[in-house]
Amino acid sequence: MIQIPRGTQDILPKDTYKWQFIEARLHQIAQDYNYSEIRTPVFESTELFVRGVGGSTDIVNKEMYTFQDKGDRSMTLKPEGTAPVVRSYIENKMQHDVNQPVKVYYLAPMFRYERKQKGRYRQFVQFGIEAIGVEDPLIDVEVISMLMQIYKSFGLSNLKLYINSIGDQDSRSAYNEALVAHFKPSIGEFCSDCQSRIDTNPMRILDCKKDRDHPLVKQAPRIYDYLNEESKEYFEQVKRNLDALGIGYEIDYNLVRGLDYYTHTAFELMSDAEGFGAITTLCGGGRYNGLLELLDGPTETGIGFALSIERLIMALEAEGIEIPKPQGIDLYICTLDGASRTAASRLIHQLRAEGISSDMDYKNRKLKAQMKDADRKGAKHTIVIGEEERETNVAELKNMADGSTKQVKLDDIKALAELIEEVES
Ligand code: HAM
Repeated sequence: MIQIPRGTQDILPKDTYKWQFIEARLHQIAQDYNYSEIRTPVFESTELFVRGVGGSTDIVNKEMYTFQDKGDRSMTLKPEGTAPVVRSYIENKMQHDVNQPVKVYYLAPMFRYERKQKGRYRQFVQFGIEAIGVEDPLIDVEVISMLMQIYKSFGLSNLKLYINSIGDQDSRSAYNEALVAHFKPSIGEFCSDCQSRIDTNPMRILDCKKDRDHPLVKQAPRIYDYLNEESKEYFEQVKRNLDALGIGYEIDYNLVRGLDYYTHTAFELMSDAEGFGAITTLCGGGRYNGLLELLDGPTETGIGFALSIERLIMALEAEGIEIPKPQGIDLYICTLDGASRTAASRLIHQLRAEGISSDMDYKNRKLKAQMKDADRKGAKHTIVIGEEERETNVAELKNMADGSTKQVKLDDIKALAELIEEVES
């Protein structure tokens, strides 16, 4: 038997309502914050991620689904959404749009070849936003406030927001030098990846999955001490404006994020709900001031975040929050003989066109079993059609909530549809 690929999942019909509910909420909140949807391809040139996300990151080094297409070009299933959005921004010259900053969001599958673990999938759905074209602490605050609003709107409360500043390029260079001085003498104690990271990208040692508990990682210099005045001031303003909105946070001086494009504000939202599992990150993001230029674009800056729906659902489950189940169908028609089945088929065909969700028995069941089927489908009304109903064109519409019945004409579809709708509202 062919099985589903490791690290992926089928979202079965019994569960899709949760996804639809969450997705509808995300579209709504994006609208409230005035972000418009952008859709970029599922695959992009590999080069985009190597340059954008960074050649020494785990994502690029170990986790990409890369393939040669038939034209011998290297393509990659997107592991994240920021680089593709920035590529599109540059290609479509969005710096000239009248609406600035350009505020976009996406809801799309991402692919990372990760080790299977609770909360870590090889295909997962990210909701992400990007605000490009303005460097202002208030836009950083808007982005953070939106992500908090998303989680709060679902009733989640076991949340911890961590923020940090990675500073500008100058601060980062000074910090990288300090890290090299700190780690170099003992680099032999670290994994082979870290041994090359010390030369290519020392900051990546701080979020190494293997060496994260090494005492030298814990004692590493803090980036905050290497921020220049400008970077410190920007961070102060972000914090002040978060305070003004009453958004609580903790500063995590070790938060550097796993992607190379970040500068200044970086943040992660964690769940501390019991039973959530080991991977507690719900959402991550930050500012990326050099990314557009790195991808041959204009000197614009951006900020954004991304979360996965998989982890959002895990957080809801960990806090015992249920997504409302969808309502049942408006009408189920039971039938007593073959000719009535044909009549029912025509009737639901006409009623569906009037917006009445309806269904009937297709398995030739006895009336009692049909009633059970109606119940399972959450039918709000039922009609039984037999020989008499066919001859008189009159039947009884039964309201399943209170058991009341009403005589209805089967050949006046509009009136029947109106009656069903009226009872519901
Ligand atoms: P990231 O931290 O790599 O950032 O991923 C963001 C979120 O995607 C994570 O916090 C987590 O919820 C989810 N996620 C990542 N990997 C997996 C996985 N294997 N299975 C399930 N969920 C996962 C980015 O992707 C950046 N592009 C975010 C960003 C947007 N920064 C600025 N703008």
